[in-house]
Amino acid sequence: MNHSLTRDQLLSIAEEFGTPVYVYHAEKIAEQFQKLKHAFRNDDVVFFYACKALTNINILRYIRAIGANVDCSSINEVKMAVRAGFEPQNILYTSNGIAFDEIVEAKNLGVHINIDSISNLEKFGKKFGHSYPVGLRLRPNILAGGNLKISTGHAKSKFGIPVEHLDKVLALVDQYKIFVRDLHIHTGSEIKDVDVFVKGIAVLFDLIPHFKELEFIDLGGGFKVPYKEGDGETDIQHLAEKVHEAFASHPNPDGRHLQIWFEPGKFLVSESGYFITQVNVLKDTPGVHFAGVNSGFNHLIRPMFYDSYHHIENLSNPQGPEITYNIVGNICETDTFANDRQIAEIREGDYLVFYNAGAYGFEMSSNFNSRLKPAEVLVKDGKAQLIRKRDEFEDLLRNQIDLK
Ligand code: LLP
Repeated sequence: MNHSLTRDQLLSIAEEFGTPVYVYHAEKIAEQFQKLKHAFRNDDVVFFYACKALTNINILRYIRAIGANVDCSSINEVKMAVRAGFEPQNILYTSNGIAFDEIVEAKNLGVHINIDSISNLEKFGKKFGHSYPVGLRLRPNILAGGNLKISTGHAKSKFGIPVEHLDKVLALVDQYKIFVRDLHIHTGSEIKDVDVFVKGIAVLFDLIPHFKELEFIDLGGGFKVPYKEGDGETDIQHLAEKVHEAFASHPNPDGRHLQIWFEPGKFLVSESGYFITQVNVLKDTPGVHFAGVNSGFNHLIRPMFYDSYHHIENLSNPQGPEITYNIVGNICETDTFANDRQIAEIREGDYLVFYNAGAYGFEMSSNFNSRLKPAEVLVKDGKAQLIRKRDEFEDLLRNQIDLK
């Protein structure tokens, strides 16, 4: 079943909760998770939701309830996951450039940790020796992903321990008897070509024989979802077949079974999310019809930061004649959501919805221009509930210290 919210549902949410508002559809998240589970049903695969995409605690609780684990990118995300009820063994902290203190904190919470630098690996070895297992976040030197800003595995990327530093890693593992339990790679986001994952696996196969205590291979996230019509998504079934073939044709030389992990973010939550705004002003200039909404890159930065496409519809006048608009925000910067976009005729006060806003939408929002962060609403079992209040003016001052 293909779950989506209707325009009428979205319109009534906009009227009930006000705008701008992020709306998430729980059943769509479950549908995406089932796609993954089903495709990989013949293999020992575990999915850790990369919660940097969307961390509202209700989303985390829902993800846990449907049976996924969670991948975190900061110690605060780890704490959120604990708060949401995940057991430590179901939480993974894939770190990047963090202070060693956070690794110690994560260790004290008992979660899985992927270490991404030689220096933290050395500190870890010195302090914990073989007493606590770790994963190694490796940089496979593969260029992949929707654009360079979301590519993390290439040869100039800051992420991970470059595979060419294997000798240094092995020397530390040997010196401190470090218990390396998993090898991790994440090459980027929006990877449609399943061969990228196969290439990554091939890099790992060269390394696996060096680590005698491995139990897991972590292939990261990055599955593509369709943002515009005709835009494909990663063929998960095909990916599952390729991954299966790759592991079957390269059995672990020690004969030990390796569980496979993935860390999908966007794939699970992107399409579950809708961002609804209201049109403040129309401005007809000689070359361009502008529709200015009550939002900006302070609420949804993806179009400006990554040139990403979000489909936009006019919820208030869906049958109106199509006109070409530039959809812009109200921030004192050029915050263009869409250029030359055909949308059903827009009147001031109309509600516009941005699709595919569940991942890295609210999560990357800010209070720039002293604007308030939007509300969040969760629709589950047909019922819409507020899961985050819209900011209020006092929130802007909450942590400021007024010296008068
Ligand atoms: N695992 C690791 C280690 C990651 O760094 C990421 C994303 C993921 C998993 C999840 O990737 P996903 O399945 O969501 O593609 N803000 C950007 C995306 C940045 C992704 C950063 N790392 C965007 O809005 O497109």
